[in-house]
Amino acid sequence: MPGYFITFEGIEGSGKSTQIKLLEGYLAQEQIPFLSTREPGGTPVAEAIRKILLDPLYAELLPETELLLYSASRAQHTGELILPALNAGKVVISDRYYDSTYAYQGAARDLDYELIDVLSSFATFHTVPDLTVLLDLPAQEGLGRIVHRDLDRLEQEDISFHRKVREQFLFIAKKHASRYLVLDATKAPEVIHQSIIRALNFNRRPKHEA
Ligand code: TMP
Repeated sequence: MPGYFITFEGIEGSGKSTQIKLLEGYLAQEQIPFLSTREPGGTPVAEAIRKILLDPLYAELLPETELLLYSASRAQHTGELILPALNAGKVVISDRYYDSTYAYQGAARDLDYELIDVLSSFATFHTVPDLTVLLDLPAQEGLGRIVHRDLDRLEQEDISFHRKVREQFLFIAKKHASRYLVLDATKAPEVIHQSIIRALNFNRRPKHEA
């Protein structure tokens, strides 16, 4: 039985972690086997790459290096963890996947989208999420929610960077509307969670019942 691949996307402070926790609780309660993971990271090698990517001490990291490191982390994560779990029939939840590369390295760092196309296909072994949940909110509001914590290298970027990220996510969501669920992240967590559950049920329903 093929698994089901759900990715969460959004700017900093959009509430992905909260929603992923609520979804994990729902899947556990329904006794649906799942794997919950994140990017960059998810395996020992990919987590080691994550440390380099997010450490504010590496301010000199070039956008080109950044793109390659996110892609390297993704290749390891997909090959070692995501694909085996999907092949075992699990629901896989990933906190971010390749759409983040289009938003952060493509739109905000201004790197070539065609190059990102090539690297994304390569690093994912052509894996495409079944459902991507975009938690959308204004950059100002998202950044306001994270001021109390130690900011990583990307979180420290200015507001215009995060605005570009948000706009690109909305653009991608329109372009790939059939796999996207765009939700207003300013709503109450439980309201957002219920929308996600409804979308999941809809996606899992056999076609003849739709
Ligand atoms: P997190 O804060 O959601 O754990 O994500 C780590 C940071 O990495 C976040 O600022 C977004 C960024 N990122 C990219 O720039 N490109 C990518 O491809 C991914 C997966 C994350």
